[in-house]
Amino acid sequence: MTNNNRFWLLNCTFLSVFVLILNLSSCSQDNKEELFEGEPEPLEMVSYLTNVVPLIQSNCLGCHSAADPSFGAGHILEGYDNLKVFVDDGRLINVLKNENGFSLMPPSGSLVDFDIALIEQWIDEGAEDN
Ligand code: HEC
Repeated sequence: MTNNNRFWLLNCTFLSVFVLILNLSSCSQDNKEELFEGEPEPLEMVSYLTNVVPLIQSNCLGCHSAADPSFGAGHILEGYDNLKVFVDDGRLINVLKNENGFSLMPPSGSLVDFDIALIEQWIDEGAEDN
């Protein structure tokens, strides 16, 4: 093999490795965009049981359960009828958005915008027991 041939062989190898790395990194870039830039699709109709209850359960009932609402100053958010009271007087949305002088709930930090929008949509749709 002449020196010249060896030079090209080496060069080609480097080039293909480089192109491979470039491809790999652009692939992972694509994945990242799909994972983080895609907004969740808004729901056509929000369901109390399917969408609202799980959010209240995991974020609020630690302090506002029917069994022990003592950490939540006695306010019970468990069960449709109990939650509806706070829907109707506006306090549920006020605490979630930290508006009109109401303290933010949960106290540890706001729900993500998407979840607040979901609860707000449920209220706008009539806050049905659906
Ligand atoms: C760590 C305990 C804790 C968690 C978790 C929590 N709360 Fe509260 N909540 C409280 C306490 C304490 C109060 C009473 C003091 C206050 O109003 O700041 C309260 C009060 C409230 C009130 C009445 C506000 C008023 O001024 O009348 C509402 C409504 C409420 N919480 C909703 C929620 C919702 C909705 C969640 C979940 C998204 C939640 N809370 C999560 C502790 C908690």
